[in-house]
Amino acid sequence: MTLDELFQIARQAAAAAYAPYSRFRVGAALLGADGAVYTGCNVENRSFGLTICAERSAVVQGVSRGCRSFTALAISTPDSPVPVGPCGACRQVLSEFMDPRCLVRFGGAGPERVDAAIGELYPYDSLHELAGA
Ligand code: THU
Repeated sequence: MTLDELFQIARQAAAAAYAPYSRFRVGAALLGADGAVYTGCNVENRSFGLTICAERSAVVQGVSRGCRSFTALAISTPDSPVPVGPCGACRQVLSEFMDPRCLVRFGGAGPERVDAAIGELYPYDSLHELAGA
């Protein structure tokens, strides 16, 4: 599974987004250490703070299916012309289940793509000694 292929899956996952408030669809595709791909989309709520991001919904899908380790992530934001990286909350949740060297690719509707390691997106993890309990 290449990052290009994973990004295509993330792009398709964005089609399921429930985003009537922001009109900003996000799709995520997580490659499990088991070889399976787990997808997610953002699911908004009229109580805005209850919104779940695409990245965390993909993590929840993977863990719910018994996978607790992921090796790559792609994020598609088709309603943005430029790449949009994961939010701070998602960076911390992703770091729970991904090695810091694992790559995250993100891109919008345009051709630009960003590849960054989780350790770059979430450096100086203040709780690293508690991880994996
Ligand atoms: N969103 C995500 O799904 N992932 C991100 O990393 C950034 C934001 C969603 C939340 C909300 O539904 C919409 O994008 C606008 O913020």
